[in-house]
Amino acid sequence: MIRRPFTDHAPDAMPMPGLNPYVAEHASFGREILPATEALSWKDRWSEWFGRTAPLHLEIGSGNGFYLSGMAAQHPEADWVGLEIRYKRVVLAARKLRGLGLTNACVVRFDATHLHQLFPVGSLAGVHINHPDPWARDKQAKHRLIGREFLELLAPLMHRGAELRLKTDFPPHITALLEAAPGLFTMKAVYGDVLTEGAPWPDDVRTNYQRKADEKGVAVGAAWLVRD
Ligand SMILES: C[S@@+](CC[C@H](N)C(=O)[O-])C[C@H]1O[C@@H](n2cnc3c(N)ncnc32)[C@H](O)[C@@H]1O
Repeated sequence: MIRRPFTDHAPDAMPMPGLNPYVAEHASFGREILPATEALSWKDRWSEWFGRTAPLHLEIGSGNGFYLSGMAAQHPEADWVGLEIRYKRVVLAARKLRGLGLTNACVVRFDATHLHQLFPVGSLAGVHINHPDPWARDKQAKHRLIGREFLELLAPLMHRGAELRLKTDFPPHITALLEAAPGLFTMKAVYGDVLTEGAPWPDDVRTNYQRKADEKGVAVGAAWLVRD
């Protein structure tokens, strides 16, 4: 896993500035988008950035932001950071946060494989991963996020008892999570199909990819773990 500092491109330093309009919108959006270079400098001071001390939750791969905005709205007592690698999705998520007037959440365009650069040891109260990219073919499996190497990076950033929640329509992710967890996390519950078995957690929010899976009749499973 490469661990060089992660940085954003300045819009006019990109090979074809203007090709992706979301790059410029990302740079000038305002409070709901925290540029990566700035986010790095808040690593040990998230409570200062949010202006209060509150449990800090992270969503990895927040996509269009349905879950991030929904959870931040349901949990005003907590602060929420979404990490997402694609500019357009960062902007779409930020628009949802702004539309709901949420000040307890922000989104950072950041590669989750570098997240130790953003959060200090023991700082996270919860980590939420919804539909991580499947990289379904055997040849692509090395790109999958969920595995022992990633959990070893993530677990130290979470405090004891912090929750790790995964939803996915790709069952190998659940298997990989459970296989990688021993010594770092304890399993609380596993669901094969959240539609028929009920929402995995009382405050669940359906994501964009979850809706697509539901529409195709593909089961969405979930795993709920607790940091040892
Ligand atoms: C299949 S989509 C799911 C999006 C959303 N969570 C949902 O359930 O609708 C996976 C998301 O993870 C993002 N992603 C993939 N690798 C990432 C990484 N290393 N760091 C941050 N985000 C990443 C992708 O850009 C994409 O938006």
